Amino acid sequence: MRAIETRNIGFRYPGGPVLFSDVNIHLKSGECVALTGPSGCGKSTLCHILAGIIPRSIPGAIGGNVLLFGEDIRDLPLARIVQLVGIVFQNPDAQLFSPTVEDEIAFGPENLCLPRHEIKERIDNSLRAVHLVSHRLAETQTLSQGQKQLVALGAMLALEPAILICDEVFAQLDQNSTHLVKEVLRLQKEQGCAILMVDHNQDNLEMADRIYRLEGGRMWEGP
Ligand SMILES: Nc1ncnc2c1ncn2[C@@H]1O[C@H](COP(=O)(O)OP(=O)(O)O)[C@@H](O)[C@H]1O
Ligand SMILES: [Mg+2]
Repeated sequence: MRAIETRNIGFRYPGGPVLFSDVNIHLKSGECVALTGPSGCGKSTLCHILAGIIPRSIPGAIGGNVLLFGEDIRDLPLARIVQLVGIVFQNPDAQLFSPTVEDEIAFGPENLCLPRHEIKERIDNSLRAVHLVSHRLAETQTLSQGQKQLVALGAMLALEPAILICDEVFAQLDQNSTHLVKEVLRLQKEQGCAILMVDHNQDNLEMADRIYRLEGGRMWEGP
């Protein structure tokens, strides 16, 4: 079954022009698919739609259908969507809001009202996955940009998403952090996570099985 499938989606912000139309993409579990395209073409907007942020938190008119594991995203409760889709953005400062690494990573599982022991297990697993066990009690503001991005990723992994959307997550990272984040993503892919990665850098695109390009309001598949 496809983790993500879009059927002719089109979009415009309220009062704005049509940003794209007839967008058909699909992504299965264990696949890493890249999304490229010029600045302003709507890549981040599409990521927001696939994660349910548009139209639930940011308004806009969506045409067509987004299916997550065969279910229309419109019919899924938000609590279900956040467990299915994790999203990480370019700027971790815009994503992190908790005082410490542990608080940030605990936020998701705590809000799912999981049993105590499971919350603890998820925090432990997540910290290990992003190599931040020794930074558990660190204040996020004291961390490097790369470490912050790992915290943002860890916070998503704690929700154990089947789909991970990474919107230019390497853009602010140095080589070492880029390497670490890539390793985390590779392992997630191996474990069956479907990954949609917005990126331009050829070195990062290497890990993608397929590439989509959004340009001039249309989606193309190919290099
Ligand atoms: N919340 C919003 N309201 C209105 N217009 C927006 C909003 N967010 C982005 N846009 C506009 O939509 C277009 C696509 O933006 P975006 O999806 O961020 O593109 P990309 O990620 O490909 O650079 C841009 O022209 C941008 O200014
Ligand atoms: Mg963008």
